[in-house]
Amino acid sequence: MNVLDIIDKKRKGEVLSKQELETAFLGYLKGKIPDYQMSSLLMAICIQGMKDEEIFDLTDIFIASGEILDLSGIHGVTVDKHSTGGIGDKTTLVVGPIVASLGLKVPKMSGRGLGYTGGTIDKLESIPGFRVNLGKEEFLKQVDEVGFAVTSQTANLAPLDKKIYALRDVTGTVESIPLIASSIMSKKIACGASNIVIDVKVGSGALLKTKEEALEISRLMKEIGKRYHRTVETMITYMDIPLGIAIGNALEIMEVIKILKNEEDNYLVALCKSTAAKMVSMGKNIGMQEALYLVEDVLKTGKAYQKFEEMVKAQGGDLTRLPFSQNVQKVLSTKKGHIIHMDARKFGKLSLDLGGGRVQIEDRVDSSVGIVLNKKIGDDVQVGDLLCTLYLKEGSAPIPEDITNYYTFQEDEIL
Ligand code: URA
Repeated sequence: MNVLDIIDKKRKGEVLSKQELETAFLGYLKGKIPDYQMSSLLMAICIQGMKDEEIFDLTDIFIASGEILDLSGIHGVTVDKHSTGGIGDKTTLVVGPIVASLGLKVPKMSGRGLGYTGGTIDKLESIPGFRVNLGKEEFLKQVDEVGFAVTSQTANLAPLDKKIYALRDVTGTVESIPLIASSIMSKKIACGASNIVIDVKVGSGALLKTKEEALEISRLMKEIGKRYHRTVETMITYMDIPLGIAIGNALEIMEVIKILKNEEDNYLVALCKSTAAKMVSMGKNIGMQEALYLVEDVLKTGKAYQKFEEMVKAQGGDLTRLPFSQNVQKVLSTKKGHIIHMDARKFGKLSLDLGGGRVQIEDRVDSSVGIVLNKKIGDDVQVGDLLCTLYLKEGSAPIPEDITNYYTFQEDEIL
C-alpha cells in the first residue's frame, strides 16, 4: 500500500494497521515521504481520530525509532513528569529542582513550543550558554550526579516524535488526543523513568478543551504506561487563564527563579507544589501530606533554588545574562471593574505574534519578548491602571489592539 492509499483510508475513518503506520511514519522519518503528505495524514488523524490499537502501535513506532535509555546505572529512584501543554506553563522547571533536591532522580526530555503553548526547551534556550542537546552519556551522568537534567530530543530518543512534533506545530495538527498521547508517552518511555506524573491540562488555553477529553487521554496514557511496565499517574488541572504572571521564554525563567526563591504565592505555585508532592510521594512511597511538607521545606531553605542553579551551570547556562527586550509597551485598562477572567488562548496567540513561538518550522524564537501580567483574577481595576506589560521585538511598533478585551470584568462597579 502506498502513502496515498494510507491517507485516503484514514480520511474515510478506517483503521490503519501497524504496517501501514510504519510505512507512512518511518517513511517520513527517512525522508521518503514529504512534509505535505505527512501533514495531510496528520490532519486526517486529527479529524477522524484513532482506535486504541492504532494509538498503541503509533506509540511503539515512535519509541522504536530511537533507543530506550537504560537508567540502571543511576543511583536512586527515577521520576519524570510531563504536561500536555498550556500558556505560561513553566512547571517542569520548578518541579524538577524541587524533586531532585529531595534525592530523587529526574531525567527529563522536553519539547519546544507547540501551537500557542510554550515549550520547556525554548524557555531554557533563553538562558545564554544553556545547552539543550545533551549526548546520552552526559545526560545520564548529570541525572546521576545533579539529580535533574533536561534534554531536547537529540539524544536519539524518539527522533520520530521530534520530526512530527515540529511539523504539527506549524500545520494546525496539534490538538489531537491520539497524537498528543503517543507524542508524550513515547518520550516518557524512551527516557526510561519508572514513575511518571502527567499533568493533563484542560480548558480554553489548553490543547484539551473538555473534562471528557482529559479523562480519555489519562486513560490512554496509563494504558500505554502499563504496556511498558511504568507507573503512570495523571492529574487533571485547569487551564483557562495563563499560568503564573509571565508568558515568554526569558520572562518565564525569571518567574521560575522567583518561585524557587519562595518569593511567589499563587495558583501556579500551588500547582507546582502538588505536582512535586505527587512525584515525591510516588518516588519515596510516602503519603501526599508528608511529601508536601518536604516540598515546602526545600523551597523555604533555598535547596530547590540551589538545585536549579546547579542544573543550569551543569548545562552551561548563565542566569545573570537573561535577555529582556527594552522595547516595552505598557497596556493600560480602558475599563474598570473586578477581573473575573483572562483569556489564556488570546494571551498565548499574542505571545506567538510577539515572536515568542513559531509560525513556520524554520522560524527563530525571540527569547526576549513576552508578556508580564500586572493584574490577576480577583484584582480591582480602574481605567488607566496597568493591566500588563508587553515586551516587543526590538524596533517593532506597539500592538494597536485593545488588550483590555482579553479580560472579563464583573459588571458591578468597584468602590
Ligand atoms: N506535549 C508533547 O510532548 N506532545 C504533544 O503532542 C503535546 C504536548
